[in-house]
Amino acid sequence: MSEAAVISRGTPPGLVPGQGSVLIIDDEAAIRESLQTLLELEGYDVEAAADGEEGLARLGERPFDLVLLDLALPDRNGLELLPEIRAIDPQLSIIMITAYGTVEDAVRAMQSGANNFLQKPWDNEKLLADVRAAVSRRRTEEENIQLKRALKQRYNFESIVGKSEPMLKIFDLVGQVAPSRSTVLLQGESGTGKELIAKALHLNSPRRDRPFVPVNTGSMPADLLESTLFGHVKGAFTSAIASKKGLFEIADRGTLFLDEIGSMGIETQAKILRVLQDRKFMHLGGVHEIQVDVRIIAATNVDLRQLVREGKFREDLFYRLNVITIDLPALRQRKEDIPLLVDFFLRKYSEENQQPLRRVTPEALRPLMNYAWPGNVRELENVMERAVVLSSSTEISPELLPDHIAGRGTTLPVMETRADASLFEVMEECERQIIVAMLEKCGWNQTEAADRFHIPLSTLNQKIKRLNIEIKKKGRE
Ligand SMILES: Nc1ncnc2c1ncn2[C@@H]1O[C@H](COP(=O)(O)OP(=O)(O)OP(=O)(O)O)[C@@H](O)[C@H]1O
Ligand SMILES: [Mg+2]
Repeated sequence: MSEAAVISRGTPPGLVPGQGSVLIIDDEAAIRESLQTLLELEGYDVEAAADGEEGLARLGERPFDLVLLDLALPDRNGLELLPEIRAIDPQLSIIMITAYGTVEDAVRAMQSGANNFLQKPWDNEKLLADVRAAVSRRRTEEENIQLKRALKQRYNFESIVGKSEPMLKIFDLVGQVAPSRSTVLLQGESGTGKELIAKALHLNSPRRDRPFVPVNTGSMPADLLESTLFGHVKGAFTSAIASKKGLFEIADRGTLFLDEIGSMGIETQAKILRVLQDRKFMHLGGVHEIQVDVRIIAATNVDLRQLVREGKFREDLFYRLNVITIDLPALRQRKEDIPLLVDFFLRKYSEENQQPLRRVTPEALRPLMNYAWPGNVRELENVMERAVVLSSSTEISPELLPDHIAGRGTTLPVMETRADASLFEVMEECERQIIVAMLEKCGWNQTEAADRFHIPLSTLNQKIKRLNIEIKKKGRE
């Protein structure tokens, strides 16, 4: 993608490189000729037109840097012509010329959008200096527009940091598949940047000016999810007091991001499949089919193939979604990106908190590199934000990192209280503490804890039983 984002510093497209191009619009042949000769001798590419209509026609044919426009033309008043010329090329430089220039004329010309004003008879040196300045103004302006455009394009990618082999491959892939309408499946652990990539796909597609609509399909009960996705008609169910548009309609000609698709119920899966196949759906309780043009990007942090094997995910939907798969590697699998990310987040949070940019000491970078980052980039981002906020010096030192990352307090409590404990006992106690900590983190939802440990629920339950862990409360409300 970087090729597409290269910032152009050359001549704007369509403009001839070199000194610049000038169009003279003047009804007096003698004036046209002397101006043309003067400017051509200076190396400008010059054309001339005898009246307003001819001038506009020339401007429509090719781009110019500058127009020298006579105020009094036989067919049109030069002032009238100005807005029409601007409409053809808003960045064009325009210098008005008149024989009977008065202060009022000059003011009116400038107000109507001319960049400068010149009186006949002119002084050649002054005229050449004005022409030079006008051409250069136009070129700089054009360059800035291009620069902004390039930066905007770039930006979508620049906010995604990475130089590791797998990330470079992902950037290429994103660049390749973004412009199409193909369904994309993003797979990766929590915090690896799935939503970020989904947005980059959208922003680098022709759909970028249409909505990007994210929906967390895992966090809603099935009926709510369906009415959110498909909308409903008034009276479709008891609480449907008015009809409502679904996200599929809201995302029309845009992108719908189905996050955590693995947690979607089997029945909703069937409905999604239908939309993917026919690009049509109905409001809940509705009778009319609605046609939409929506690009689907789905994300999952669980292995969908495994869910298919377990009968929890429809195989046909899996294949529909799996047209293009982007696997986002865990941060611990691309440690070379850590310093880059550290720097990126340091800048981000220094700016956000209006604090001077700080440097991470080598002593602090070491534990950051060695830590396993189970929460991936999101976890690193949080750690860096915290460090920036807590820091009162020009450096980020290890003290500003959380204990478990900086490696403080690593002696296990069980080894201190029971010096005679066997290795097996120490390990069991550790396992117990780790499981309890995770259960607490998940609000004692065993399914979620098993998920996060990447072990089957049955295995977790066996461990809970063996380690005598008392379940505090069941599930999260
Ligand atoms: N390569 C990256 N460069 C910069 N920032 C990143 C990168 N990857 C992720 N982030 C940031 O990390 C955070 C988490 O990313 P994101 O929300 O995209 O992850 P996710 O895979 O969708 O996580 P989850 O599965 O938990 O929803 C975001 O703030 C995102 O901007
Ligand atoms: Mg996400």
